[in-house]
Amino acid sequence: MTHIFSVIFISLAVFTVAFHTEEPGPDVRRSADTCGNPADALPFYRAYNPTTVDHFYTANVNALLFTIASYPLQEVAALVFVTQEPSTVPFYRLLNRVATDNFYTTSTTEMDNALQNGYINVTDDPFTYIYPKQVCGSVPLYRLYHETKLDNFYTTSETERLDFIANQGYTDIEIAGYVLPLALTQC
Ligand SMILES: *[C@@H]1O[C@H](CO)[C@@H](O)[C@H](O)[C@H]1NC(C)=O
Repeated sequence: MTHIFSVIFISLAVFTVAFHTEEPGPDVRRSADTCGNPADALPFYRAYNPTTVDHFYTANVNALLFTIASYPLQEVAALVFVTQEPSTVPFYRLLNRVATDNFYTTSTTEMDNALQNGYINVTDDPFTYIYPKQVCGSVPLYRLYHETKLDNFYTTSETERLDFIANQGYTDIEIAGYVLPLALTQC
């Protein structure tokens, strides 16, 4: 009888340990609830028109192919969400056809300013979402601006950011938001 009880007790103990190791801890659970699913992120392609000096970003491969003659593909800038995931906000695209500038922002205030200064609100398909804060393994997406060539430029590369400031006439403006790096290490 004693033997049977100890077997039951040991089984329960083993079960409890197994249960606790499989169950995510509070931090993991919180992270899963507040992070976007990387499976819902797509490459945010960067194309560049050297004639008009305009950087164009899109997650839409067809849009990229449509403009590729004037906007050759440069690289994948980052991964962005194409559905509104936890903790993300819309990353609006605005376009100024006169200045030939594509401008991206999460700020409705900046968007309103742009709308009063020759930009139109372009509905992207798919619509893009990024993090407004650095969470879930995201990295800063730097925004720079060339005042005479009227070009908003976005990069996650610190090296490129410094080069564009030192050698290409761009000014550091802000961190536009936080995006997933190409090599995902967590989340
Ligand atoms: C801009 O376009 C998006 C997508 O269609 C829309 O959700 C948003 O309300 C628009 N904002 C303004 C200020 O026009």
